[in-house]
Amino acid sequence: MSRWLLHCRAGFENECAAEIRAHALEHGVSGYCKARQDSGYVIFTAHEPGVDLFSLVTLEALIFARQWFAVYDLLNDLPLADRILPVIKLLKQHGLRYADTHLETPDTNTGKELQKLCRALHKPLQAALERHELYDQASVFRLHLCFLSTHAAYIGFASRNNSSPWLMGIPRLHFPRQAPSRSTLKLEEALLRLLSEEERRSELQSGMRAVDLGAAPGGWTWQLVRRRLSVIAVDNGSMQPELLDSGLVEHIREDGFRYQPKKPVDWMVCDIVDKPKKVAALAARWLISGWCRRTIFNLKLPMKKRYQEVQECLDLLERELAEAGIAASIRCKQLYHDREEVTVCVLVADAAGN
Ligand SMILES: C[S@@+](CC[C@H](N)C(=O)[O-])C[C@H]1O[C@@H](n2cnc3c(N)ncnc32)[C@H](O)[C@@H]1O
Repeated sequence: MSRWLLHCRAGFENECAAEIRAHALEHGVSGYCKARQDSGYVIFTAHEPGVDLFSLVTLEALIFARQWFAVYDLLNDLPLADRILPVIKLLKQHGLRYADTHLETPDTNTGKELQKLCRALHKPLQAALERHELYDQASVFRLHLCFLSTHAAYIGFASRNNSSPWLMGIPRLHFPRQAPSRSTLKLEEALLRLLSEEERRSELQSGMRAVDLGAAPGGWTWQLVRRRLSVIAVDNGSMQPELLDSGLVEHIREDGFRYQPKKPVDWMVCDIVDKPKKVAALAARWLISGWCRRTIFNLKLPMKKRYQEVQECLDLLERELAEAGIAASIRCKQLYHDREEVTVCVLVADAAGN
């Protein structure tokens, strides 16, 4: 394979392209990208044929890509009367079997209009795969069809061990009615994506203590309280009164950049809108001072050089932790619920189970 399709947030194609090129190059794979602004996807083509990027780069390591698959071909003349037959013909040339099928579109308004078509094709395609012996429940491969229009789709496959289980890499989360703000979904998605299942069990236990910097009106605090953590919510703004009634929240009206906990807590989370390097340095200070051993924070991105800015923030964090002799696992992703921002999670070594 030498072509990959990467889904990203519309408007972040250049960042996604720069990132995949850099990661591939780190493994000696040079290539180029087709990245049309606001298309919601990037096509990366390696200069050499036969490259297996799935064995070299992990989706987890990519910040701006939500999902990816290796492309067999772009079929751009699919007959509307039977779109499935040409797909089956193509799949037969490649000889793989698939355990699963994702019929998807880029995450754009045009894409949304095509999702009805994707849903309608799912069952007939599955039946055709079974009829043509292209289905195997035990296979590590998943079939991907990404529709760009009613008659054009990229067809390819992903390794189920190195791709997102969610369609287009988007977890479907429902906004809980009692939550004080939509931001709550950001922390919920961060916990789902940036922690493993085991870490969600071990690192988010009832009775743990957290500080939420820039907490008002309380969407992130709500997620922590829901998991029975007690929270010090730091913000000059007002918190949702019901949240304060839970008995698990102490509201402190103070500057989040100056606040220091009286004793160490398990978690620090931060959703303050400020310069990304200032927020990264704040997180480093909390970890190095031993005020917390786990943190999740957002980096609001500037208008330009966004990929470079994220890299510099992560370098700063890595450098400062290394200088302080702290081993940590640093994870970063642009979540579906993130807009002009990315979310970072840091677990200090034994908190990361190392
Ligand atoms: C995006 S909102 C946070 C939303 C919150 N995470 C939620 O889920 O409801 C950012 C908050 O940061 C607060 N903020 C901005 N600068 C701050 C600072 N220096 N210290 C503490 N809070 C700050 C603002 O008052 C605002 O409430």
